[in-house]
Amino acid sequence: MEQYIMKGGVPLCGEVNVAGAKNAALGILAGAIMTNEPVIIDNVPRVQDIEFLLDAISEIGAVVERRDGNRVLINGSTIRKTMVDNDSIRKIRGGYYLVGALLGKYHHAEVDLPGGCNIGSRPIDQHIKGFRALGADVKIKNGMIIAHSGRLIGTHIYMDMVSVGATINIMLAASLAEGKTIIENAAKEPHVVDVANMLNTMGANIKGAGTDVIRIQGVPALHKCEYSIIPDQIEAGTFMMAAAATRGDVTVKNVIPKHLESISSKLREVGCEIVEDDDAVRVIGCNHMRATHVKTLPYPGFPTDMQPQMSVVLALAEGTSVVTESIFENRYKYVDELIRMGANIKVEGNVAIIDGVPLMTGARVLATDLRAGAAMVIAGLAAEGYTIVDEISHIERGYECLVEKLSGLGANICRAESERDLQKFKMKVG
Ligand code: UD1
Repeated sequence: MEQYIMKGGVPLCGEVNVAGAKNAALGILAGAIMTNEPVIIDNVPRVQDIEFLLDAISEIGAVVERRDGNRVLINGSTIRKTMVDNDSIRKIRGGYYLVGALLGKYHHAEVDLPGGCNIGSRPIDQHIKGFRALGADVKIKNGMIIAHSGRLIGTHIYMDMVSVGATINIMLAASLAEGKTIIENAAKEPHVVDVANMLNTMGANIKGAGTDVIRIQGVPALHKCEYSIIPDQIEAGTFMMAAAATRGDVTVKNVIPKHLESISSKLREVGCEIVEDDDAVRVIGCNHMRATHVKTLPYPGFPTDMQPQMSVVLALAEGTSVVTESIFENRYKYVDELIRMGANIKVEGNVAIIDGVPLMTGARVLATDLRAGAAMVIAGLAAEGYTIVDEISHIERGYECLVEKLSGLGANICRAESERDLQKFKMKVG
């Protein structure tokens, strides 16, 4: 029954702090089990996907201690099994990083196949291709990936497509392989670089992360370290879109502006003013946003994880925008929900044609997946009247304290657990 209820129409104003990057944290926390020494990770976002991964890591016997909110200690010396078949792991996508981590360290891994957002078919053939190239025998049996090897041997791997997950997974396993591994056509996303930096802090020898050729010289063992996760590019982008859609003025803090360039430039095209500081980006909305075209691409292109939020902004921009989704095949399920709020959007294949409307109106809508859910919240904050968002567990997989952060920017929003909470909110907001 948990829902978000909001009354839109208030321009968001003020400052908001961004948490650590969820998708980097998934790779980094899996990597932390690859040594028998304690690893301390800072800036770990408190979101459901991370809790699920930490539960799974703890269920195989590693020590997992939450310290001071966003700091986590992991000690992999007490791991007693290499089979990860608990409920937690089935709910998340990043659980597959335990295959790379366990295979690298113990030469054996059995991990339930990943869940995560339902945004189209999400094969893992490139992960498997990479593990096999390193010398592992890999099969899928009873819903699990089972990977086994003698020694892993470094090799040359050409990725058939740019995959964040496969790049990180191969990097994890190859860190402890014998000899040199070269990954060609690697993903360049900031979280790939972050996982590489963390592994290097643990004693790995990875060069070239952030370019499309990554070279990994295997080392015999990894050691303890302390590491702080980079800010979440997608959470930051979500607040930037919320500022634009509500015609507000928001400074998003604790960010790396370079990671946000594709988002900033699209917002400039629609007419927003963007002011960059060393570790903050300010978005000043404008009353007459203009249409533009967006195509999702691997980094440094426009992120697919920002496509639904950007579409909300374009739904309110004057003129016709064209959005092309080139990464996932089924990422427009939220469009029907936006149409219920008065948006004018047609989807043809992987293209959405958006005719901007001056205003949307509140409705009861579904969060069809994580980022689509964030888009519904942005739409609700911009719309006239009340919006109720159902299925918010999707949103809570990836956003830390979203309601608190938006309230801090002046939004009228609340997390309701009952009809009574909804009524109380309506009485309060009027
Ligand atoms: C990660 C992110 C996700 C983001 C996506 C693209 C995590 C947990 N999730 O997902 O939020 O939307 O990157 O930036 O970090 N593909 C294959 N075979 C494979 C692997 C991928 O065909 O073995 C295809 C996918 O279907 C997709 C494309 O490659 O079309 C990119 O996928 P990938 O970068 O691997 O996404 P994920 O790692 O699943």
